[in-house]
Amino acid sequence: PWDAERAAGIIAGHAHREGATLPILHALQEAFGYVDAASVPLIAEALNLSRAEVHGCLTFYHDFRKEPAGRHTVKLCRAEACQAMGADALHEDVLRRYDVSWHGTTRDGQVTVEPVFCLGLCACGPAALVDGEPVGRLDLDTLAGALTERAA
Ligand code: FES
Repeated sequence: PWDAERAAGIIAGHAHREGATLPILHALQEAFGYVDAASVPLIAEALNLSRAEVHGCLTFYHDFRKEPAGRHTVKLCRAEACQAMGADALHEDVLRRYDVSWHGTTRDGQVTVEPVFCLGLCACGPAALVDGEPVGRLDLDTLAGALTERAA
């Protein structure tokens, strides 16, 4: 969980670097799994930047999560070989079925969906990683099955 004191320590540890904003945001995400909005004023103060500048940086990069991730992470491959296997349509179905958008987390906090670009599983697309486990020939049923398995 978010810890302001720990965050301040992380920020102080990077503050001397040039262009410290990105490394700090990465370090915070690494430590907490996301970048809490409360870190924006802390970073701004440490780096002598405006809050708007820090906030802009935080929102510009999709890598940064603004809320804790779900219990499970599903990474869906959007690269070409998987596209050729119908990944686009599948992804639309997945997002609709779980009522979530890219980089978003389901309302119950269970599943976060992220795009990835090639997992080296091109021969068995559409491919995905479910909590880091590769899943090939993905469809709605195999995804639901993989998530149930992870939850067990
Ligand atoms: Fe999807 Fe390579 S293109 S795994």
